[in-house]
Amino acid sequence: MKVITTIEQLKLIIKKEKSEGKTIGLVPTMGYLHEGHLTLASNARLENDVVVMSIFVNPTQFGPNEDFESYPRDLERDKKLAESAGVDIIFAPDIEEMYPTDGGIKIRAGRQAEILCGASRPGHFDGVLQVVSKLFHIVEPTRAYFGQKDAQQVAIIQTLVRDYNFPLEIRTVPIVREEDGLAKSSRNVYLTEVERKEAPAIYEALLIAKEQFEANQNSEVAIDSATKHIEKYTSGKIDYLQILAYPDLKPVTDKTKQYLIAAAVYIGKTRLIDNIIFSLK
Ligand code: PAJ
Repeated sequence: MKVITTIEQLKLIIKKEKSEGKTIGLVPTMGYLHEGHLTLASNARLENDVVVMSIFVNPTQFGPNEDFESYPRDLERDKKLAESAGVDIIFAPDIEEMYPTDGGIKIRAGRQAEILCGASRPGHFDGVLQVVSKLFHIVEPTRAYFGQKDAQQVAIIQTLVRDYNFPLEIRTVPIVREEDGLAKSSRNVYLTEVERKEAPAIYEALLIAKEQFEANQNSEVAIDSATKHIEKYTSGKIDYLQILAYPDLKPVTDKTKQYLIAAAVYIGKTRLIDNIIFSLK
């Protein structure tokens, strides 16, 4: 496995691989890898000749009062884990390498970014689209892999790729969970022991909402039961808990085919997100 830190070097390698007709799978991450990230890499491994994983804590997607500085980082550990998942190339640029200049041109995520995480993290998805667009141009992947864990993120990236004709396929990978149901996340390390015990209530609440919604298609009742569950079993504060149509993220109608139940909850100071995507039988 190679670890590359410059765009020029990476482009040279990619050019050579592509000239030999090889397919490239890209797994964008911010590092501090866990099984969620590694499942994306294993999927990429199965479907491509070359697997590139980017590890870059992207400053432009963090708000001024968010955890950019304290975001967990451990490249040495990440290297071992990535290699074990079959990654061929880690691309780990520094901030100067990715953002040497600022010409002031910004990508603005649209309507899909005004709600859920976009409402509480203004500019977050603009930053995601900026870094992902750069990675797509640098790596020119055949396929790029994203987790359903960030369902809104992957829906917005799909829109970017479709509307701006990026020549690649987006693959979505199901959420990887801890044994007690908590969605794996790099941010779980922030949780205290007590908070960690409370955190699985988020997924439990989503399951309650899904079950209720399947029974009566009443979003309000479903969200109310889920809210009560979180309030009863955690000391957390709900940021949002919503049922929407997926992937357009519009309100549910009679014609909705796929539903998203998504939650963001502050457990202590840690903001955790989770979701379920489903269709009615
Ligand atoms: P990061 O939070 O490191 O996540 C990288 C990828 O791993 C994302 O596609 C995310 O959805 C996926 N992922 C995280 N936890 C997962 C889990 N439990 N199960 C399945 N997939 C999971 O998302 C980002 O980084 C950044 O916004 C990025 C796309 C890299 C742009 O900077």
